[in-house]
Amino acid sequence: MASTTPQPEPTPIVRTDKCYIRAYTPSDIPATAEAANHPEISQYMRNRFPSPYTLENAEFWVDFCMKAEPMVNFGIFAPDGAFAGGIGLMPRDDTEYRTWEVGYWVAKNYWGKGIATSALKGFSSWAFKEFPELLRLEAGVFGGNDGSMKVLERVGYTKEGVRRKAICKKGKIMDMHVYGLLKEEAEGLE
Ligand SMILES: CC(C)(COP(=O)(O)OP(=O)(O)OC[C@H]1O[C@@H](n2cnc3c(N)ncnc32)[C@H](O)[C@@H]1OP(=O)(O)O)[C@@H](O)C(=O)NCCC(=O)NCCS
Repeated sequence: MASTTPQPEPTPIVRTDKCYIRAYTPSDIPATAEAANHPEISQYMRNRFPSPYTLENAEFWVDFCMKAEPMVNFGIFAPDGAFAGGIGLMPRDDTEYRTWEVGYWVAKNYWGKGIATSALKGFSSWAFKEFPELLRLEAGVFGGNDGSMKVLERVGYTKEGVRRKAICKKGKIMDMHVYGLLKEEAEGLE
C-alpha cells in the first residue's frame, strides 16, 4: 500500500531572497502542469516544451528529472513554497562537452518580481561549483524575448552573437540571441 506519510521536501540547491530551487517531487506535478500551460511561456521555449501542457506532460517531466543522473533540472519556488517555475541545464556533447545550455521559465503570476534574475544568478554559480569541468554556460533567446535578454544581461551574461533566422516556431521565423557566461565571470555572482 502506498504510504500516505508526507515526504519532506528535498534540500534546496540554491536559496535567494526571492526564491529557492530544489529537486522536483511528484507533489509538484499539478502545479507544474498548471503553470506551464500558458502560451506566453511556451512561445519562447523550444518545441519540446509541450503546448498545451497537460498533467501527463508534467508527470513525464517530473519523473524524467527525478531519475536523471546527474540531476540537472529543478523547480523554482517562491519563499512561501509555492511553485514558481523551472530551471535546468542541457549538457552539450562532442567537442562542446564543456559548454552546457541553461534554460528557465517563470509562472505567469510571478513575472516581474525578479525571480528569474535571482534564480539564474544562484543557479549559474551552483552549476559551475557542482560541475567543475564546465567552462561556460550558454543561453539561446528567441528574438523578441526582451524580458529574458534583460534577465541574462542583469546576471552578467554577455551577448555573443545573433544566429539570424535560426528559429521557426509555429511558422514564425525568429533570430536566436546567444548569451554566454564563463566560469571565471561567475565568481562573485552571489
Ligand atoms: C523571461 C522570464 C523567465 C522572466 O521572468 P521574471 O521572473 O519575470 O524575470 P525578472 O522579474 O527577474 O526580470 C524580468 C525583467 O524584464 C522586464 N521585461 C519583461 N518583459 C519585457 C519586455 N517585453 N520588454 C522589456 N522588458 C521586459 C521586466 O520588467 C523585468 O525588468 P525590471 O525588473 O527592470 O522591471 C519570464 O517572462 C518567462 O518565463 N517567459 C517565458 C519563458 C521564457 O522566455 N524563458 C526563457 C527562455 S530563454
